[in-house]
Amino acid sequence: MPELTEHHRRHIIELLERGEDLPPDYKHLLFPPERQEYELVYAGKEREEDILAETMAVPLQPVKTFGNGGEDERHNMLIFGDNLQAMKTLLQWKAKGRLVNPDGSHGVKLVYIDPPFATKQEFRGSQDERAYQDKIVGAQFLGFLRRRLVLLRELLTDDGCIFVHLDWKKGHYVKVLLDEIFGETRFENEIIWHYPDNFQGNVNRFPNNHNAIYLYSRSSHTRFKRVAVPLKKPRKRDVRVWDKETQSLVAARDDNGNVIYREFTHKWADDVWTIGQSGVTKKRSAEYIGYPTQKPEELLRRVIESATEEGDIVLDAFAGSGTTLAVAEKLGRRWIGIDCGKLAIYTIQKRMLNLRENIGNKGKRLQPRPFTLYNAGLYDFSQLKRLPWEEWRRFALLLFQCRDEPHTVGGVELDGYRGADDVLVFNHLLDGGVVLDYGFIDDLHNQIGGKVGSRFFIIAPAASVAFLEDYIDKGRTRYYILRIPYSIINELHSRDFEAITQPMDESDINAMVEAVGFDFIRLPEAECEYLVKTPEGQMISEAVIRIKTFKSRAMVKGAIQKGNLETLSMVMVDYDYDGEVFTLDAVFYAADIEKRGWEIHLPLESLGKQVMIIYMDIYGNEYREIKTPADFRAAEAQGGANA
Ligand SMILES: C[S@@+](CC[C@H](N)C(=O)[O-])C[C@H]1O[C@@H](n2cnc3c(N)ncnc32)[C@H](O)[C@@H]1O
Repeated sequence: MPELTEHHRRHIIELLERGEDLPPDYKHLLFPPERQEYELVYAGKEREEDILAETMAVPLQPVKTFGNGGEDERHNMLIFGDNLQAMKTLLQWKAKGRLVNPDGSHGVKLVYIDPPFATKQEFRGSQDERAYQDKIVGAQFLGFLRRRLVLLRELLTDDGCIFVHLDWKKGHYVKVLLDEIFGETRFENEIIWHYPDNFQGNVNRFPNNHNAIYLYSRSSHTRFKRVAVPLKKPRKRDVRVWDKETQSLVAARDDNGNVIYREFTHKWADDVWTIGQSGVTKKRSAEYIGYPTQKPEELLRRVIESATEEGDIVLDAFAGSGTTLAVAEKLGRRWIGIDCGKLAIYTIQKRMLNLRENIGNKGKRLQPRPFTLYNAGLYDFSQLKRLPWEEWRRFALLLFQCRDEPHTVGGVELDGYRGADDVLVFNHLLDGGVVLDYGFIDDLHNQIGGKVGSRFFIIAPAASVAFLEDYIDKGRTRYYILRIPYSIINELHSRDFEAITQPMDESDINAMVEAVGFDFIRLPEAECEYLVKTPEGQMISEAVIRIKTFKSRAMVKGAIQKGNLETLSMVMVDYDYDGEVFTLDAVFYAADIEKRGWEIHLPLESLGKQVMIIYMDIYGNEYREIKTPADFRAAEAQGGANA
């Protein structure tokens, strides 16, 4: 570890006197990491303080509220975006008292996460190269997860707890990280989820039929409740005394009143949970969703019942098919779900709108309480520009990590600070619409020049800025213009922006996704044909979509250069679109569509009056079309379809 020398000291003082930022590598000189007695070491391990300070928060843009009651931030929340950035925003919500449990505590009472396990890797090269790549992926995975665990800890209430679901390959590494983050004394249980019904064939070792779930409490105030686990019903011939009221077999007594037979219907759960997997893998099961990594509802029932009371806030930051959210809803808990996959978001949306009361998704239909879908990082500008001034102002400040602290300099009302620098949100709505031109900057400088530092930030809608420069120098002040939509001025961000990515293949669903920064939705370019075909040797016709052109228009790095069809992630279809909510019925991954010559085949008899088709690019931008069965048949009528 390099030491702070006299030269470094002088250089730091000079920079501070000039009001300039210190180079990032000085961070480790000034704040050397504290070494613990023992710890897990891996390449690129960051300091917790840096993780907390350097993760950027992104605004949450409400997209749609499901259920009655209008938009309300106390609703349950489904967030589309990278969980790291979204959690930083939730942390701000917690600090502002916007995440409150029925007992008045602030934050999240329970976190359950089931992150990607980093097990799917494609390798080329020799054994040694493979082993080396394995280590890199392993270190990246640990860094990825640790960053998130640090934020999750901060989001918990003082008496909250976290369940971290892992497999036998990476679990022990993460256990060491959890000890570091939460403290070894906060380790409560290693729960073994045993699924005996997972047949693996002859694997030349013992078949792997378990996952590990690590349970940590936030402090000594955390309390857990015992949970009852149903026992198999006794065989009829064993039943001698049946208590009708509780529907349980209690005890049989002889004429002297002695218990001669006892049977229990429930036991208290210990740390080995045997729960079959077939409910989530067998298509005919009531709980089957079709999402590759779905977990059983019974597993989440035990988690949620043991650690929360009704009304408490439950967070799943890797929501997937939404098992945690569905069970939280059934048990009357409040929930927040985050996922960076659009497929997960549409899957959850459908799941929540088709819930059944009982665990295992049986029983009567359950109307969920209202929940709101939010975008975190990929924004819809057409919605944004309709915001009233105060909401626009708040969104603009948050987008560029500015503090909302109105103050006055030289008689000019400013909106806040970015680091130590002043920020003005340009009010483009004033007097029915005004523009930000050179004259505006001149006037501003005349009033505040000399009273502000070397950097001054102005946030404005791109369409209201009359010039192209990213900044304008006046005197010793540089006036930066941060435009919405879209303004990435690389020198201002500590990490390069990286777009969220959507899978092109089912096996990528559980990939580790790291997105940094924000972007604005841009409609992809798509051109498709809709027709009806009768496959050779078959009697039944199919509705066919033929994709001719698909191009992403995303502005992120590298996106523009990609050719036709290369940026398609998947196509999602609602066979019977009701004109309001898209209900996911089928998904076709780009890799599979390509194998069929860029055609998608739909069962004609399943189509309702209208079909909604969403073509999604690898950055999550959507192109939507609504078609009727007649639109598919039109080509047939013109005679060209069966080609
Ligand atoms: C193993 S699955 C969760 C399955 C879930 N427990 C269920 O029962 O369906 C992991 C999920 O994490 C999501 N994911 C991966 N990286 C993420 C990130 N950085 N932010 C948010 N979600 C992420 C993936 O899209 C995937 O849906």
